[in-house]
Amino acid sequence: MNVAILGTGYVGLTTGACLAYLGHRVTCVDPDAHKIGALQRGEVPFYEPHLEDLLVEARPNLQFTMDYAEAIPEAQVIFIAVGTPPGNGGAPDLRYLQAAAEGVGERMGPHFTVVVNKSTVPIGSGNWVGALVRDAVERQGRGRGCFSVASNPEFLREGSALHDSLYPDRVVIGADESQTAEILYTLYRPILDQTFQPPPFLPRPDRVGAVPLISTDLASAELIKYAANAFLALKISYINEIGQLAEKVGADIAQVARGIGLDARIGTRFLQAGIGWGGSCFGKDTAALVSTASEYGLEMSIVKAAREVNRRQRERVVEKLLAELKILKGRTIGLLGLAFKPHTDDLREAPALDVARHLLERGARVKVHDPVAMDRFKKEHAGLDVILASDAYEVAREADALVLVTEWPQYLELDWEPLASCMRTPILLDARHVLDRARVARAGFRYLTLAG
Ligand code: UDX
Repeated sequence: MNVAILGTGYVGLTTGACLAYLGHRVTCVDPDAHKIGALQRGEVPFYEPHLEDLLVEARPNLQFTMDYAEAIPEAQVIFIAVGTPPGNGGAPDLRYLQAAAEGVGERMGPHFTVVVNKSTVPIGSGNWVGALVRDAVERQGRGRGCFSVASNPEFLREGSALHDSLYPDRVVIGADESQTAEILYTLYRPILDQTFQPPPFLPRPDRVGAVPLISTDLASAELIKYAANAFLALKISYINEIGQLAEKVGADIAQVARGIGLDARIGTRFLQAGIGWGGSCFGKDTAALVSTASEYGLEMSIVKAAREVNRRQRERVVEKLLAELKILKGRTIGLLGLAFKPHTDDLREAPALDVARHLLERGARVKVHDPVAMDRFKKEHAGLDVILASDAYEVAREADALVLVTEWPQYLELDWEPLASCMRTPILLDARHVLDRARVARAGFRYLTLAG
């Protein structure tokens, strides 16, 4: 099939690379000349494991352009995967979505076209995008246009975006006409039936068989995305709240999480206690859900509580350090990790940023390191007055405490003894609960977590 993808962020580029790999003819469009230039040279503008390799494999079916006119008229399926950054008051900023929808309407070909909302958009956006496309078509004097709008939310995690796209737990297609759903079914068939040849660097996991398809109406598909992310977010906040109680009563939160997670109704995943969630989705989507619900007079108190627990976890890091060191003014605190999670350089809503801000406000000096996200940090957060260290040992030198903020594998394998011995006071706050307490204590550290 002939596919256009508008937006070359994590979602757009991953979708484009995967569909081209499956044999569809894909044109990715982005107004950012710098990005398109890099992609044409085979460079990926952000860090995502194996994406560069997949783009090489998919290259014969893949084009990049800044010009809608090169992508839209021929396309049978147009994915809108532009950014929907957080706006004021919790509702996302939809100006890029609006521009994309209008651009589609202005250039759409005469054949039946499916316009797919791939960006996470507020419930009801399918109808809104449909109206924008229709108005733009009419402004061109071309009748009402021959198209329909579908919602096809993505569930990919940064850091494992390709794996999640090629071997998903489910595919959700929301459309109000059966013809639309059928076109998307055809597009995704190789993934649904798992008939494609896996790329050598992303072998098909043993457990993956046919992928379930949820074919539903537009509003349900839109709500599935928000409800899924909010549920995952509240699962994390739940275990973090239990972690606070575990600290008080002297229980081991890792054992508690395992003990409850093995109940199949609960499940073991997303029960890793720690500093809480960051990234581009959970914060934004829970805020958007609360905002949409308020338009209908609903409180969403569970989702609000999950957000509050998450916000507090970041403050608790500083409170813990204060309780240990008594004075933070003039102390040096080292942060290991800046990215919101390992295997990405994404810093959106990264806990490290809030922790650094709180520490600076209290007069501490802050040293930071991240194996991948330092360059991006320099570009995006030049105003944050922290010291950039070249490695974990540099972070530890003369520091009064270390905080493990992002559980990069490189940090888990550190030789902790030399780190402890070059610090002013060897305090280590493991804000992800991932280190072996006994091993770190043997290296000379006073070991702390957010749950005891
Ligand atoms: C998430 C969803 O998982 C994905 O389905 C959706 O489409 C986009 O948002 P992502 O933000 O890339 O993906 O990362 P994810 O791996 O889900 O982690 C989110 C945050 O939760 C991270 O900050 C992570 O550190 C934190 N987390 C995750 C925990 O604190 N504990 C856990 O047990 C799991």
